[in-house]
Amino acid sequence: MQPVLETQDLTVEFGGHTAVNGVDLRVMPFTFTSIIGPNGAGKTTLFNLLSGQLRPTRGKVLLRGKDVTRLSPAKRTRLGLGRSFQITNVFPSLTVLENVRLAVQAQAGVYYNMFARRSKHAAFEEKARQLLTTVLLGEKQGSLAKHLAHGEKRKLELAMLLALETEVLLLDEPTAGMSLEEVPSILEVIRRIKAEGTRTILLIEHKMEMVLSISDRLLVLFNGKLLAEDTPERIMDNQLVQTAYLGGLYDNAASS
Ligand SMILES: Nc1ncnc2c1ncn2[C@@H]1O[C@H](COP(=O)(O)OP(=O)(O)OP(=O)(O)O)[C@@H](O)[C@H]1O
Ligand SMILES: [Mg+2]
Repeated sequence: MQPVLETQDLTVEFGGHTAVNGVDLRVMPFTFTSIIGPNGAGKTTLFNLLSGQLRPTRGKVLLRGKDVTRLSPAKRTRLGLGRSFQITNVFPSLTVLENVRLAVQAQAGVYYNMFARRSKHAAFEEKARQLLTTVLLGEKQGSLAKHLAHGEKRKLELAMLLALETEVLLLDEPTAGMSLEEVPSILEVIRRIKAEGTRTILLIEHKMEMVLSISDRLLVLFNGKLLAEDTPERIMDNQLVQTAYLGGLYDNAASS
């Protein structure tokens, strides 16, 4: 089977510091891969290279076998790779439902028009409602976006990301900055997206319990290099990973 996302010798240097160093990845369709590694390991930088925010010093990014290394983030999104912070069009004074409906409409290539057929409008709205149900925001659909709590805003962003209908989703610490009460609900949302079985998900996350329970594969980044790639169970047993890093990570996880 062809990987949906692949990198070959992916490398980026920032003034002498190699933040991502010779990374070879093969991500198979509809799998759930988490990327772990200490602060500064290069996880976010790797996402920046995958999504096109950054150009590599050397190496390639392939999407379904196509070389996208030189393509803009927008073009990569059209080819099926989505990242949540690319979404800058949350309108604070519109409702949650209106925001998601506009995202669905934009994806369909139909811009707002007073004369749009009523049936089409209803179909977009129905799709938006479904997405809001998936992200557990159904009850907030009538609220103004600006009135959402932090965790709810992240869910709205996830709904808008899902509206792009990209097969690949890059999620960088979706629980960052959330209160402890908000975390289980986001985890549930990610589980629901996984359960639908139509997306390939890459997740960067420090919360080890979450990562171990949800992932098919774990990638361990250390000093920009891919230290290990395996199932969660085998990563936990990997002596190299243990000595190099997991002790420290557990200390982090326990204190956060
Ligand atoms: N645009 C940039 N210019 C210069 N250095 C950068 C840039 N982006 C990242 N770095 C450096 O690259 C290294 C990797 O950073 P990165 O943000 O990818 O780490 P991370 O694994 O996501 O860490 P965290 O877990 O803290 O989010 C760090 O040393 C960082 O300072
Ligand atoms: Mg990061």
